Amino acid sequence: MSKHSEDSRKVTTQRLLEMKQRNEKISMLTAYDYTMGTIVDQAGVDIILVGDSASNVMCGNLTTLPITLDQMIFLAKSVVRGVKRALVVIDMPFGSYQGNSREALASAIRIMKETHGDCLKVEGGEEIIESVKRILSAGIPVMGHLGLMPQSINKYGSYAVRAKEDLEAEKLIRDAHLLEEAGCFAIVLEKIPAKLAKQVASELTIPIIGIGAGGGVDGQVLVIHDMLGLTQDFSPRFLRRYANLQGIMHEAIEHYVEDVKSCDFPNEKEQY
Ligand code: KIV
Repeated sequence: MSKHSEDSRKVTTQRLLEMKQRNEKISMLTAYDYTMGTIVDQAGVDIILVGDSASNVMCGNLTTLPITLDQMIFLAKSVVRGVKRALVVIDMPFGSYQGNSREALASAIRIMKETHGDCLKVEGGEEIIESVKRILSAGIPVMGHLGLMPQSINKYGSYAVRAKEDLEAEKLIRDAHLLEEAGCFAIVLEKIPAKLAKQVASELTIPIIGIGAGGGVDGQVLVIHDMLGLTQDFSPRFLRRYANLQGIMHEAIEHYVEDVKSCDFPNEKEQY
């Protein structure tokens, strides 16, 4: 059992709401495979996101746009097999829900049937609200995502902080209310001013999870490869690195190569 979660019961959307009500912060991290899902779950993280950031950190793409529904389903299935306690949220990939609400529901049902995950996450507000409502009407819990929405990178042209100007901030607040009214169980706010994120968290009753949105929200999410230092070329201000796994892995692999070349590995005890 993790030192931060004495409660070994499965995390549900209802329990997240109760956490917000009693001011208990919610922890969320991404995972994209069975082994990582197991480690993250056993360390006591409340929500595991099978993020479409897999497109970047698992597949080496420059954006999240290329990852497909089939690829997300493959990854999510593997994560779910390793998770006992955390709520597993799966990103709907670009192109799987924006067309119309029928297509959105068909994609959502495929993900839920094939992965056995708990919930889905979508990027956007007013523009996709019909899709959100249709997915919710099938009994599938939905997490919203506002602020910097990486699936819209070609519209923005950069990954800079969003909603610094009044017009965009006002739209974000409206969208957050729309998502809550539609029935979303939580919203991720990415890379927006801390003051704005805090305002949204205090106006809404559902949990607000931030990434680059300051400490005034109900929980935090990071991409696991970034916080473990597996990626080194991505250093936004909001990222805290908790380890340098790239360095540790590099050293271990160099050591192995050395041992193979010098015939140190395998030794007498390591053979049959
Ligand atoms: O795909 C992802 O990892 C995400 C997080 C950054 C919230 O959406």
